[in-house]
Amino acid sequence: MNTATHVTIVLGTRPEIIKLSPVIRACEREGVPFTLVHTGQHYSESLDSVFFDQLELPEPDYQLDVGSGSHGEQTGAMLAEIERVILDVEPDLVLVQGDTNSVLAGALAASKLPVEIGHVEAGLRSFDREMPEETNRVLADHVADYLFAPTETSADYLRDEGLDNERIHVTGNTVVDAVQRHSDFAAEKSAVLKGFELEPDEFILLTAHRAENVDDRDRFADLLDGVARAASALDREVVYPIHPRGRQRLDEFDLMVPDCVRLVDPQDYLDFLELERAASVILTDSGGVQEEACILGVPCVTLRDNTERPETIDVGANRLVGVDSDAIRDGAVEMYERTTGWENPFGDGTASEQILTAVCERSTDDQQVSQ
Ligand code: UD1
Ligand code: UDP
Repeated sequence: MNTATHVTIVLGTRPEIIKLSPVIRACEREGVPFTLVHTGQHYSESLDSVFFDQLELPEPDYQLDVGSGSHGEQTGAMLAEIERVILDVEPDLVLVQGDTNSVLAGALAASKLPVEIGHVEAGLRSFDREMPEETNRVLADHVADYLFAPTETSADYLRDEGLDNERIHVTGNTVVDAVQRHSDFAAEKSAVLKGFELEPDEFILLTAHRAENVDDRDRFADLLDGVARAASALDREVVYPIHPRGRQRLDEFDLMVPDCVRLVDPQDYLDFLELERAASVILTDSGGVQEEACILGVPCVTLRDNTERPETIDVGANRLVGVDSDAIRDGAVEMYERTTGWENPFGDGTASEQILTAVCERSTDDQQVSQ
């Protein structure tokens, strides 16, 4: 592999840390020089440093400490800081992953400077512009030079938007690389089931943190009601590792949490993988959790009106039910009874290697041209 390319990797939230960890390790393994920039979008230990420790990632070279704020405040502050870093480091390429405000800021900052951009997890579309994530991912794709699409479906969306086929690389999703590396280890090492006194297949796992669900009192209440109905129909308790946004809204809206729902702190990666693996059904509005459930062979019910991961539905691993309480109950029962064994549509666990190879090969081409 040509190691002349210098890559600046920008990340800022829990899913970016997890999904970029295989790329960071691949850079280390292959000797590709890189600079790690943490925007500080996530900063609580349970969303941030716990993953750096567990995934054995190096300390960020730049910690921007931007923190929380409105979309404009947060993205604007990151944009200014990331620009400063790029001017300082002068990398060949800036790599971003996913659809958060950190991704938008990284991609926009790089787009005005003489540096290439790689977007990992390109081409996902919910076709719902009310979601901030949709704006972020569309804009990042349209300024990127390398579009690392996880599947042919996402590559087709990019082509439909007129993006140059030469920029598109179908690599699979780096989440597969992360799950493959950590799931056996999680099964061996994690004591989370014992700690929570849970038996495999005796509980439902819930995550709900999306702004469109938890920032709306009525939607959040409907969602919790539906989860309680699902728990009653399946005669199982619910474990809900709650993201700080959800926790804050519960308090602010003074919502009653049903007795069958056990609220717990956000879990570290190994413990969360173990909870996913052992759950009867997973109810979620998370993107990454939909993918991991599919990869681990655990039935999933998505508490949203749309998904940018249609592959999970196509293979039979996921059902979209929104937040209507009857639909959540019916979806959970249907998925619990579904035969598992579907195919994983997100690749073979070599996405991070393929991403790095594409980036480094392009730089070889450039050098040959200039010689
Ligand atoms: C962000 C992403 C979302 C992603 C999620 C992953 C955007 C627009 N949203 O949502 O796509 O699914 O991360 O988890 O980028 N907070 C803390 N501690 C933290 C971070 C946040 O307590 O470390 C609280 C703050 O009160 C903050 C709120 O959570 O206002 C929301 O944080 P923010 O980063 O704006 O969005 P997320 O909901 O985390
Ligand atoms: N996750 C975790 N602990 C938790 C909840 C989630 O480690 O308590 C991991 C999960 O395994 C997945 C990622 O966080 O890899 C998903 O992140 P999140 O749901 O915050 O964001 P999204 O994928 O929706 O953007």
